[in-house]
Amino acid sequence: MRGKFISLEGMDGAGKSSHIDTIITTLERRGIEVVSTREPGGTGLGEKLRELLLHESMHAETEALLMFAARREHIAQLILPALERGAWVVSDRFTDASFAYQCGGRGVDHNKMAILEQWVQQDLQPDLTLLFDVPVETSVQRLAAARTPDKFERESHEFFRKIRNAYLDRAKEFPHRFRLIDGNRALEIVSADVVEIMSTFAR
Ligand code: TYD
Repeated sequence: MRGKFISLEGMDGAGKSSHIDTIITTLERRGIEVVSTREPGGTGLGEKLRELLLHESMHAETEALLMFAARREHIAQLILPALERGAWVVSDRFTDASFAYQCGGRGVDHNKMAILEQWVQQDLQPDLTLLFDVPVETSVQRLAAARTPDKFERESHEFFRKIRNAYLDRAKEFPHRFRLIDGNRALEIVSADVVEIMSTFAR
């Protein structure tokens, strides 16, 4: 049987990375083979593109195209082969991030992004997307306390406000696959929610 495809999304500082291990463990305890990956990245070429994307400034559409170039490789080399052999794929970000950051944050045309999505993914979409949502203030405070910021993490309050709104719009557009998680609570409480969602999904 084909595996399930799960994506994790949220603004920088929303806390999704803190829950990846919990997600993987919850699935593995049910005997599921899990392939954990991330975007941009996930393949040798994708990780090289990630370096450029996170540290070089570039035109917003160049950024969008490189995100999808990395994604094309990721789907071909890693995601589809894993799903086809029955493994589940957990990806730290996928295309919703392009709609949030490149369309919402940078203003890339939504129709152009939809064309890239159709071209690169055809009918591939995540079966489940966990969207970690926090107020912009929380995200900005957490980033200020964290390690050296990358290109995206140095952006303004206004940029993050647009990203949050674009993510929430995507969640409204695809309610069947999105689960909204309030990330503005204690880590253990958010973690309990994550376990609950994953347990129900993997039943
Ligand atoms: P992130 O996933 O937050 O990794 P880390 O926790 O190591 O910082 O970093 C990836 C960055 O790439 C993040 O700021 C969002 C950005 N991004 C886009 O702008 N568009 C995309 O399509 C993807 C996948 C990521």
